[in-house]
Amino acid sequence: MLPANLIAKKRDGLSLSDDEIRFMINGFVAGEVADYQMSALAMAIVWRGMTPEEVASLTVAMLESGEKLPRDPDGLPRVDKHSTGGLGDKVSLVLAPLLACHDVVVPMISGRGLGLSGGTLDKLESIPGFRVQLETSEREKQLREIGLVMIGASEKIAPADRKLYALRDVTATVESVALITASILSKKLAASLDALVMDVKVGSAAFMKNQPDAVRLATSIVNTGRLSGLPTRALITDMDQPLGSAVGNAIEVNEALEILEQSGPAEVRELTLALSAELLCLVGKYDSISSARVSLERSLANGAARERFERMVSAQGGRLSGPLPLASGAVVHAKRDGYVAEIDCETIGRCIVEMGGGRRRVTDAVDPSVGVNLFVRIGDSIRKGQPLVTIRSRSQHEHWLAELANVIRIVESPVAGRALIVNRVTEEGKVI
Ligand code: URA
Repeated sequence: MLPANLIAKKRDGLSLSDDEIRFMINGFVAGEVADYQMSALAMAIVWRGMTPEEVASLTVAMLESGEKLPRDPDGLPRVDKHSTGGLGDKVSLVLAPLLACHDVVVPMISGRGLGLSGGTLDKLESIPGFRVQLETSEREKQLREIGLVMIGASEKIAPADRKLYALRDVTATVESVALITASILSKKLAASLDALVMDVKVGSAAFMKNQPDAVRLATSIVNTGRLSGLPTRALITDMDQPLGSAVGNAIEVNEALEILEQSGPAEVRELTLALSAELLCLVGKYDSISSARVSLERSLANGAARERFERMVSAQGGRLSGPLPLASGAVVHAKRDGYVAEIDCETIGRCIVEMGGGRRRVTDAVDPSVGVNLFVRIGDSIRKGQPLVTIRSRSQHEHWLAELANVIRIVESPVAGRALIVNRVTEEGKVI
């Protein structure tokens, strides 16, 4: 086999076999397939796409380039959720401890924020002392005793994906459903899961800007999950506005704590319950979403999920005695009566990055104390003078007030609110 022949085959729109895909991935990791050859193949995949069987082969080849977390054959079912990323998405912080109250274990391997999207690891690290890297023995003990870990990926998880993602980033080949699917699933398969639920975000602050693209990605992930032995469901959810009120790091941990204490924004609670219920049904703990929800709601109401969260934080070295401290605040008020038509997520995300709360480059440090709280959602009716946004910044409040003055677009006529859950994709790939 020669890399150039396989690149030409994909360029001409033909399918690659399992052996051919493995040859390219193994050669790439070993340094025998050059970066420029892998980039050419990635570009051919962007243009020509891949069949479901090719995506499954690519996923498994990338998985097998690294290690898999061990699993206890007599252990509890292992489950996880993955989100394609968006503004204010703190669901993982509530979902993982909530699920751990239901005789499943959650080995959650999360990422860091880049650009508009926040990262669960950055949010957790705003808790003083919290460690996102654990020794293997610590991780396995914590999974047995508390039922969840929230950690970063080690270098040994899907190294082919790490290397390929770096190339895709600089060769305009990130935007391929096949490549995104294999990238996400190779890392999830490495956690030796029994079930996965995907939260595929759609809207102005998401990777997928429109519903057909989001459906394409969700069905590709679900179908590849099935072909690779990982039962997967997906929810396609609104990201034309931030999820909940808080956007930032410490500020999102505080909002997650509110949800664990039975307050906080309804949509964060709703999405957490919806995603968690899908997983509990997928592993056969409940036979209906409604019965799963009853049990999940009980674990929020009786404090069990909150207690699980606290045990996880303290096992991973975190010290948390209440809401985390935030930078000082300034408030944007409504300049007129009307209805919220649009929320400019791009500007909110950019300002948070510029305030130091997010990254431009992977190596940037993050200031956990900055962020914003939004008090309105699309469709809300507004009175002049009402608070719309609180900005938390270390300095230059006037500057940030001016930057964020127009992020909430208010119009005269009523505007319909957005559905939080746009579609559901079953494990068979059926879009509902
Ligand atoms: N997230 C990933 O992990 N990989 C991609 O390719 C895109 C988003």
